Amino acid sequence: DPRGPVLGIESSCDETAAAVLAPDGAVLAEAVFSQTEDHARFGGVVPELAARAHLLHLPGLVAGVMGRAGLLPRDLGGVAATSGPGLIGGLIVGASYGKGIAMANGLPFVAVNHLEAHALTPRLPGLLPGGAAFPYLLLLLSGGHCQCVAVEGLGRYRRLGTTLDDAVGEAFDKAAKLLGLPWPGGPHLERLAKEGDASRVPLPRPLLGRQGCDFSFSGLKTAVAQAVAKGTAAPADIAAAFQASVAAVVADRARHALAMAPGATALVVSGGVAANSAVREALACVAAGAGLPLVAPPVRLCTDNAVMVAWAGIERLRAGLTDPWDHAPRPRWPL
Ligand code: KG4
Ligand code: ZN
Repeated sequence: DPRGPVLGIESSCDETAAAVLAPDGAVLAEAVFSQTEDHARFGGVVPELAARAHLLHLPGLVAGVMGRAGLLPRDLGGVAATSGPGLIGGLIVGASYGKGIAMANGLPFVAVNHLEAHALTPRLPGLLPGGAAFPYLLLLLSGGHCQCVAVEGLGRYRRLGTTLDDAVGEAFDKAAKLLGLPWPGGPHLERLAKEGDASRVPLPRPLLGRQGCDFSFSGLKTAVAQAVAKGTAAPADIAAAFQASVAAVVADRARHALAMAPGATALVVSGGVAANSAVREALACVAAGAGLPLVAPPVRLCTDNAVMVAWAGIERLRAGLTDPWDHAPRPRWPL
């Protein structure tokens, strides 16, 4: 185990986050500052603004979690910072800040892959009795990522499928925008869909039944645009039909992915879209059909956070893996 608590830092997109975990994974303190309001009026994340906001908020967040954990930097056993994939400006801010703390206090530094952090989240102690055991199937469903990954061990990830165009959260956000909802639109669309009837609007279910477990959402988005333009269907019905279509597609892809990951002990869903109850219900069905548990971490651990980064750092430190000071953040960094 690391010789003291581990500080985690997340700054790859529009959440600035810091967390301190004990060497056994217990969360001592955590904080997330969401920049959503800074970017909402632009209808999406503006990379330059994001980087500046990380620079502004990170020192206070780190001081806050250290203070609440009752720790000084020299008490730490290591520092882990997301170093990719993501927006390069924010990655440089977070990784440099983390390296500075580590260097000044003689601590090991871990450059964390953001996708690996999402992938290892279900192993956080306390989430599942005993933690998720390797191997398991991970569905990463967020605004920036959409993939099926067989998680076979630390550092052993097999990507089984990914999106051919938009990520699923991006599809939610684009469909919501077409329906006139504010950004980010996923949660607004889910609320609107509750008042609608999916059967009133026929929408395509891209790649449903197709071999493999890739995703595609651009055709569905186009169909939503056409339904909106036609002006005959109620927005709530369009929202309900869109959500039903996405849930059906995600369930179908998950079923195929499970067939490609023999021996999986659980179906794990993560990313912001894992908050969607229609998607969760559809995946619960798939998991039950395969006789596996569906593991859906609490929403605050599914969306971007630093607890998962610190935890990935602990797993890597336990395996003796650290990174040099000249480790360069990477905007693209496949698992
Ligand atoms: O994981 P996340 O917080 O950030 C990254 O993209 O990395 O995911 C955000 C995405 C957004 O596209 C948002 O619209 C979507 O997750 N989302 C939802 C819901 N809550 C968040 N999509 C559908 N239904 C929801 N309830
Ligand atoms: Zn993420």
